[in-house]
Amino acid sequence: MTTTVTNSTLTLEPISTKSVRTYKDSPGIVVKKTKSVPNEIIDAQSASLYSKIHNDWRDDLVRDGYAVIKNAIPKDRAENYQQEAFKWMKSFGNDELDFDDPKTWRKENLPPVDADINAYNCYGVTHEKFVWDARMEPGVLGEFEKLWGTDELLASFDALNVTFPNRADAPEMKPWPHFDQSPFKPGLHCVQGIISLSNHGPADGGLVVYRGSNNLFNKFFATQVRKEDWDEFNYYQLSESQLKWFIDNGCEEIKVNCEPGDLVLWDSRTCHWGMVPTEKSNTIRTVIYSCFTPAKFASEEALDTKKELFESFSGTTHWPHADLTAVRNPVIKPIHRPQPLSMPELSDKLLKLAGAKHY
Ligand SMILES: [Fe+2]
Repeated sequence: MTTTVTNSTLTLEPISTKSVRTYKDSPGIVVKKTKSVPNEIIDAQSASLYSKIHNDWRDDLVRDGYAVIKNAIPKDRAENYQQEAFKWMKSFGNDELDFDDPKTWRKENLPPVDADINAYNCYGVTHEKFVWDARMEPGVLGEFEKLWGTDELLASFDALNVTFPNRADAPEMKPWPHFDQSPFKPGLHCVQGIISLSNHGPADGGLVVYRGSNNLFNKFFATQVRKEDWDEFNYYQLSESQLKWFIDNGCEEIKVNCEPGDLVLWDSRTCHWGMVPTEKSNTIRTVIYSCFTPAKFASEEALDTKKELFESFSGTTHWPHADLTAVRNPVIKPIHRPQPLSMPELSDKLLKLAGAKHY
């Protein structure tokens, strides 16, 4: 069995052990499955979230499966983070790249990995100072603390996304509606986040969600997917007819619009995909994916892996505490960059969020 995981050319191929997968076309990427925490711990953590009305964005998240938190970061700081992201994009000897000149927006002028999926998590970018600074903004980290009811969290080492509008050589990207959670995990295990560093108007790229699909996640798998087709890995892509089932059950397709400094959150059980800019857009989509989950969700084994990943400045998937994907410098077209260009301040707080130090 081969499972397409994105609309890119990457394919997942199971190998001999059930706990590890590799990407056929990207030998630098290893998906390591770790033991899941008991559902009782998961459910206890989110009990207060579901047990009352909060009169803030948490009500949207529970009802709709997603929420937009306006001005999580002051606009000027968000714009500064975008400039830092642009500097990183130009740090590979690719001096030809000019953010003001669309003619230079070509694959050969972009960082030497992942240009086709617009998301970068190699070469230590997920540990650059500006990325950690954005994650640890009070309006980002603080909202995740509010969500989970604890300040003992773990951070994902998630990707930077920079997508140029109307890039002449960009491959066609079709919708890939999916869940980022296994049906074997029925509760609230993970909430994903986008720190918006650019405008996301109707014509610009951005997150597309199916409103309320989070609340149909368990019913969908129980009634529409044979149990032998359930996968323990946290990814499930929907067919057209499966997506129609959600639409027929009232889940409206929503393109989430937001501005620089906004934080978008969604439940990993909410069906979603990332829309590239339409031809009417002239905005360079820039976001930092950022998720936090309670440290108590991680097993000792996962914490060991997490520490190892941090110390090698590796990237991960959205999941901060389990099924950690090591995204190291790729074997193909190697560039020697063992650490971020600009190191983050290794504060006690950061090391705990990174899993490099215990709470
Ligand atoms: Fe996703």
